[in-house]
Amino acid sequence: MATLIVRQYKHSDFPAVKKLFIEGCQEHPSTTFYQALRLPHNWLLVILGFLLPLVTIGSILLAILDVVVVLVVLWLCGRKFFYSYAAHTLAGDMKDIPKYYLQREGYNFWVVESDGEFVGMVAATPSFLPGGEKNTELKRMCVIRSHRGKGIAKVLCRTVIEFARKKGCKAVVLSTTTVQTSATHMYRSVGFRCTHISYMTGFTERLVKLQWIYFRYDIPNSK
Ligand SMILES: CC(C)(COP(=O)(O)OP(=O)(O)OC[C@H]1O[C@@H](n2cnc3c(N)ncnc32)[C@H](O)[C@@H]1OP(=O)(O)O)[C@@H](O)C(=O)NCCC(=O)NCCS
Repeated sequence: MATLIVRQYKHSDFPAVKKLFIEGCQEHPSTTFYQALRLPHNWLLVILGFLLPLVTIGSILLAILDVVVVLVVLWLCGRKFFYSYAAHTLAGDMKDIPKYYLQREGYNFWVVESDGEFVGMVAATPSFLPGGEKNTELKRMCVIRSHRGKGIAKVLCRTVIEFARKKGCKAVVLSTTTVQTSATHMYRSVGFRCTHISYMTGFTERLVKLQWIYFRYDIPNSK
């Protein structure tokens, strides 16, 4: 069995971490697109897009072209969200990981190696609820495709939970999107529970029904 080592991030990990993060984000537009295709309002758009040119100018070519345009727009909606999320994150907390995550109390960034090869990552930041409850937020969870389904994400979750427990936090919280079904299954199997789901506010996100889903793991015997 492969030996897993979870260790703190170091400078030389950046190319692998950045590549994995971008690849992780690029997986979701297609799932978002297939979800969008199952929504009744998008079916209506497709049917209208087909019928309008056919009925008004009698062009089957334009009718087909219209359907293609609607499908491309739906695909681009999911792509826009995840690509701008990746760009925003890379220009934000991941721009200088040591400065953001390794020099501040309550923050951390880990990578996991399997037989010496980089295979995944996770991060933690402090999170304070309105009542002042001190929690840890789990972020940047990703495992390379070839090593999925081997319990690596579970190990990373436990790393964050243990970190939060030592910091005296009551819970580990996180948010993800409902289209990230591998992640939502994984968090549930670790013991996280869904606290709520909220719609995203943008028009394009609503068109493809992108929703935030929030999870919480209550740390047993926390102070
Ligand atoms: C989500 C992700 C981190 C899971 O990593 P992983 O190492 O394959 O997960 P694990 O092997 O630790 O699986 C843990 C549990 O989740 C379940 N799980 C993982 N992927 C699943 C899937 N696609 N469908 C159903 N269950 C799944 C496993 O069955 C396991 O449950 P079990 O122990 O009860 O059998 C990985 O798929 C990934 O990197 N995805 C892309 C990036 C992403 O979405 N990150 C989440 C950001 S919030």
